Amino acid sequence: MIRAAIAGASGYVGGELIRWLLGHPEVELVGASSERLAGQPLQRVHPHLRGRARSRFCRMDELPSCDVLFLALPHGRAARRIDALADRAERIVDCSADFRLSDADNYARWYGEPHPAPEWLERFAYGLPELQRGDLGGARYVSGVGCNATAVQLALAPLERAGLLSREQPVVAEVKVGSSEGGASSSDASHHPVRSGCVRSYAPVGHRHAAEVEQTFEGLELHLSITAVEMVRGALATCHLRIDQDVSERDLVRAYGSYAAERPFVDVLHERAGPYRHPEPKLVTGTNRAQIGFALDAERGRVVSLCALDNLGKGAAGTAVQSMNLMFGLDETAGLDFGGIHPL
Ligand SMILES: NC(=O)c1ccc[n+]([C@@H]2O[C@H](COP(=O)([O-])OP(=O)(O)OC[C@H]3O[C@@H](n4cnc5c(N)ncnc54)[C@H](OP(=O)(O)O)[C@@H]3O)[C@@H](O)[C@H]2O)c1
Repeated sequence: MIRAAIAGASGYVGGELIRWLLGHPEVELVGASSERLAGQPLQRVHPHLRGRARSRFCRMDELPSCDVLFLALPHGRAARRIDALADRAERIVDCSADFRLSDADNYARWYGEPHPAPEWLERFAYGLPELQRGDLGGARYVSGVGCNATAVQLALAPLERAGLLSREQPVVAEVKVGSSEGGASSSDASHHPVRSGCVRSYAPVGHRHAAEVEQTFEGLELHLSITAVEMVRGALATCHLRIDQDVSERDLVRAYGSYAAERPFVDVLHERAGPYRHPEPKLVTGTNRAQIGFALDAERGRVVSLCALDNLGKGAAGTAVQSMNLMFGLDETAGLDFGGIHPL
């Protein structure tokens, strides 16, 4: 069995990691940390795991040595102590944004401060198996992914693969997100009477996840806006782009279909009738799956490309476990086959 531990296990991503790892056939969860709740049972903050998660939180410096350490800490915490953390584990998957950008200058530009451990940046592979699967087999250090960045990248990837993602025109992407993106700590902005019913323009410009997308699709100019809407989990990316070639509906059906066919957690949702004609976050809640789809405005040479996912699943913990599977040479899908529920 692979001995796995989680630092930052009391948060929302940490809770999802516990849920996936407890059901993983090849993994034994040997430690879960919380500074605030050390000594308390895991189920105290993860009540849905009652009866399954029987152990207690420990402090981060009490985590046992392990084969793989998942980091689900707030931004900046992992990078500041990465040497000490790496002493504790053969392999690391970091869910924060600390090691997603490979270039230290680019990091400083987007995060407004120098990277605390720039020498570590090139040791981390970007952990989105749907795009960088080849970099993950046998990797020791893998970064997690930005949930909004993942939704945009999976919306654009089929077009890139088909040679249809032009660098001549910018892409405009709007991502609608649920409240769990903000993590488990509350604030004035997340107080229920304030947050409930909101359609909040959270980051009309300048969202940091744009940097990940532009790193993946070199030369692309992305205009990204994030809007917080009335849901707890989920992200829906709606990407607007111009196509400078003649494409038909059939070309796009083929492009999206062949992209998804090679990726076990990507499904195309493109129906002419029924209530679910396009990707819908609700349908992938609690899963590691992403739905992709599109609409073509052939007359104007315009495509709207869509991706729906669960920000805590495919957008964070699910993808982290999928990366771990590849790092250890396991079946990519091991432990991740929960397929969602309907109605919800
Ligand atoms: N939420 C999402 O949709 C999402 C998606 C993708 C990636 N991510 C990334 O994943 C990471 C975790 O996100 P989250 O939403 O799970 O956050 P969260 O709910 O706020 O959880 C943060 C965790 O970090 C621990 N922590 C806080 N301050 C700490 C400190 N100074 N030292 C050690 N541990 C500390 C907390 O534990 P205690 O306070 O109990 O000690 C808690 O377990 C973040 O970097 C986030 O950017 C989040």
